[in-house]
Amino acid sequence: MPETHGSVAASADAASGASSGGVAGRTVLIAGATSASGLAAARALTDAGADVIAVGRDRSKLDDLAEAVPGTRVEVADLGQEESVADLADRLRADGVRLDGVLHLVGGWRGGGGLAGQSDDDYRALEQSLTALRHVSRAFDADLRGSTGAREAIVSSTAVERPLAGGANYAAVKAASEAWARAVGQGFAKAARDAGEPLVAASVVFRVKALSGLESTLADAFVGLWRSDAADVNGTVVALGGGD
Ligand SMILES: NC(=O)c1ccc[n+]([C@@H]2O[C@H](COP(=O)([O-])OP(=O)(O)OC[C@H]3O[C@@H](n4cnc5c(N)ncnc54)[C@H](OP(=O)(O)O)[C@@H]3O)[C@@H](O)[C@H]2O)c1
Repeated sequence: MPETHGSVAASADAASGASSGGVAGRTVLIAGATSASGLAAARALTDAGADVIAVGRDRSKLDDLAEAVPGTRVEVADLGQEESVADLADRLRADGVRLDGVLHLVGGWRGGGGLAGQSDDDYRALEQSLTALRHVSRAFDADLRGSTGAREAIVSSTAVERPLAGGANYAAVKAASEAWARAVGQGFAKAARDAGEPLVAASVVFRVKALSGLESTLADAFVGLWRSDAADVNGTVVALGGGD
């Protein structure tokens, strides 16, 4: 099991938590699924019995993914565009799909040149990952709140703990993404508390230094969230691969 670092207030909010008994039979969307980590996640989720919806902006990469992981539903959407995400949510709802999980993978890297090198152009490019996270989590928040066992996760970076001048843009976007993910978790905890029900949803931040070679570790950790009590993992930061 991965090491769990500092829980935040969201998990403490929960009256009592509940494990959701595994991911089998649940529907999970991978947002930005066409990288190696997306492929590993689609495989692990499918092997564990989940229904996977893989979303990307490149049709040919999605077709490759569908071929590599039979049974995966693929959807083209530009997750940086609010309308495109709304259209995606409408398509899924029209098919009667309700999500139980979201893994956010839209990322990207630009940096170098010290602080003076942190150009606005690079910042705007990096910001797309936070924009996609905001759009996707808002579009499917009602689904996750309605699930009997929802799990949502982002992949952040150890740069949040140790930001470098030459990676300030990147660290700032990742820090903002972590704040957003913890806010999602606080929303889950508040909804459960207000309803007088146990917490069954969790939002988790995974942190890695470098993802290469850790794709399966990430995938297994994400699948494993459904075997943990929501209250134990909601609002936590989980270091993967040796941590920070
Ligand atoms: N790689 C690392 O060492 C590392 C380290 C720390 C944290 N992380 C984080 O881990 C996560 C996964 O990393 P990764 O390298 O697998 O991610 P990635 O390749 O940067 O992004 C994942 C996928 O998202 C897709 N995508 C990008 N913009 C999109 C958009 N607007 N709409 C739809 N799809 C879009 C990309 O598709 P295209 O192929 O079409 O661009 C890509 O296949 C990211 O959040 C990253 O920041 C990675």
